[in-house]
Amino acid sequence: MTDAELRKAALAVLRKNRHGAYTVPAIGLYPYQWCWDTGPIVLGWASVGEWDHAWGEVDRLFSAQWPSGMVPHIVFWEESPDYFPGPDVWATGRQPPTTGLTQPPLPVSAAARLFAADPDAARARERLSLLWPRLVAWLRWIERARTGPHLAAVVVHPWESGMDNSPAWDEPLAATPQASHRHLERRDTATVSAKQRPSTLEYRHYLGIVNALKKKQWDTEHQVDDSPFAVEDPAFTAITARAASDLAEIADAAGQDASDVTRIATQARAGLAGLWDDELGWYRAYDVRAGKPTGPATASGLVALYGGVDGAHAQKMVGRLASWSDAVKYSVASSDPHGAGFDPIRYWRGPVWVLVNWLVADGLRNAGLTHEAERLRTETRALVEQGFTEYYDPRDGTGIGGQGFSWSAALTLHWLTEPEPPPDR
Ligand code: DGY
Repeated sequence: MTDAELRKAALAVLRKNRHGAYTVPAIGLYPYQWCWDTGPIVLGWASVGEWDHAWGEVDRLFSAQWPSGMVPHIVFWEESPDYFPGPDVWATGRQPPTTGLTQPPLPVSAAARLFAADPDAARARERLSLLWPRLVAWLRWIERARTGPHLAAVVVHPWESGMDNSPAWDEPLAATPQASHRHLERRDTATVSAKQRPSTLEYRHYLGIVNALKKKQWDTEHQVDDSPFAVEDPAFTAITARAASDLAEIADAAGQDASDVTRIATQARAGLAGLWDDELGWYRAYDVRAGKPTGPATASGLVALYGGVDGAHAQKMVGRLASWSDAVKYSVASSDPHGAGFDPIRYWRGPVWVLVNWLVADGLRNAGLTHEAERLRTETRALVEQGFTEYYDPRDGTGIGGQGFSWSAALTLHWLTEPEPPPDR
């Protein structure tokens, strides 16, 4: 498939998923605006020159920001019968209705990239100066309300990690209360095979945590104490470190003060370093409630590369990753194929995700591992050529999960293909 053919197909997916002023991750399965998806999605729009869509979607997301600075993980712009748990279950009392959790701050880095790449410098400066206080407020909230014992970022629900049913959360999740069966009205399994989605038991725990936080009136300053689940997450921490350092890098050019974001970047990097597990040879989650590291080597630990890590640690992880290929053909499996809880088709327990590969490849390049980064790009391209699905079976590359998935298409535009040269060149 040529670059031009692939770009055309990817753009068709984004266009189809565009809904008013935002782009849904996948029609039916995810019918609202999702927080971390907005990051890669707007980069896709920018790469086809749709700058108003790109800036506009970031603005739209931030228009739902909470007074504390938290940016919610889902914004329910419109009612939809297709998704559970909807706004009535969350009952956060916000307008527009949102969940009461957040997700990794990828949209912050996306805004910094838009600023740097927008060919209209005046527009870029204007759009960014309106956004800047909001971007910083989110990072300051993470620093204030979500710093754990190692200075890493704490997630209070697996949904906040974006890697919902990763084996990294198995232990801490098992210790949380379960919502009763009658509270589960799952819709996801109407469109995707139940074998590829989190289990019913996991959903009972997910809703159990939602109920616990709801009882505390969604007090976003105290969720680390209020939630039965509190885990320092390497990927969330890395994405926070990178978001802060991306803003620090453009602060001068944007005419903004870099002091807050420089401090936050330094702290988050220190937090990430604190999650290194020498025995495992990997960055590892830390269960704040139980007071111990938890889980096998997963994509979350590998995404640490994106935040900027020690070169020896990067080498060690890459060495270990090579051994995964005895078990699977495509990288990066979302969990160690030799580790506990691996399942090649079940959501975040094994499948390959385009977003993870992009973050890891970016981190590999920054660590000087350009050959490995390029190999990952080539392998990822082979996957998307078969279709822009939500995830892929690492054994044979079969596309599974949701169909017509926005970030797989957006990152094809932003990362996996070169833009077509203009006709007169
Ligand atoms: C879902 O509903 O599967 C999402 O991952 C929650 O954010």
